[in-house]
Amino acid sequence: MSTQDLRRATSVVTPMPEIQTTTAAKRTDLHPSVPPYLKETYSWAYLSPRALAFFDRPWVVSAILFGNYRRLQRALLDEVEPGLTVLQAACVYGDFSKNLAEFLGPSGKLDVIDVAKLQVANCERKLKGFPHARTLLADAAIPRDAAYDAVTCFFLLHELPDEYKCTVLNALLRSVRVGGKVVFIDYHRPHFANPLKGLMSLVFKTLEPYAKSLWRRDIATFASAPERFEWRKQTYFGGLYQKVVAHCRGPFLSQAAPRQR
Ligand SMILES: C[S@@+](CC[C@H](N)C(=O)[O-])C[C@H]1O[C@@H](n2cnc3c(N)ncnc32)[C@H](O)[C@@H]1O
Repeated sequence: MSTQDLRRATSVVTPMPEIQTTTAAKRTDLHPSVPPYLKETYSWAYLSPRALAFFDRPWVVSAILFGNYRRLQRALLDEVEPGLTVLQAACVYGDFSKNLAEFLGPSGKLDVIDVAKLQVANCERKLKGFPHARTLLADAAIPRDAAYDAVTCFFLLHELPDEYKCTVLNALLRSVRVGGKVVFIDYHRPHFANPLKGLMSLVFKTLEPYAKSLWRRDIATFASAPERFEWRKQTYFGGLYQKVVAHCRGPFLSQAAPRQR
């Protein structure tokens, strides 16, 4: 990331929310409300049983991602290892969570969180054979106190309004321990000659109004303390998709020195 990006990131993003106490996080986790953007923009995709029945198949997700579902899953799995404790921020249609749980193995742990009850119940069903994996009703905007070796965020950011992108991204960065990483897989600005650029522009305009900011901004620019992380980016499929890895180099101040009462 350039110095200019760093300066922009620290000056324009909304401030990082205060780290929650464990009790506060648990209380909010029990009854998170469905955020307005999800109800207003994405109920057709995530909040109805009919949508779930249609979309929750690997071939459908693969078609939506122009055949890149497996490739992008592999790109994510390349960043984790068996035995790690991992947070998956939001459910994903298809077999993503099952494959992640399988890859981490019984010596690992997987927490999948989602803010929609329907999605949580569905993911619980898919993870039944994996006792080291659990699914929780929780908002990814609540930080989880450096509890994880790795955090994965698969195509969630583009569905969030920019202010919420900042809050969720900063919460995920705070949820990883020093030395751990947060892995984002999401949309990216395609190369100018990518033949899908026009089509994706239209899809975003009609169905995904918050996605285009990932064409304009690096994911790192949504972080309020980007300098605490080593950022690495790789693009795929003519630039349409990206993997961004934020490797945690040092603690947040509130993690290093607990506040005095
Ligand atoms: C990961 S995203 C998109 C994934 C991808 N398009 C797919 O194939 O499923 C979709 C999920 O994010 C969840 N979600 C949206 N906002 C959230 C938030 N703030 N916290 C946790 N989950 C959230 C939705 O309920 C939905 O299940």
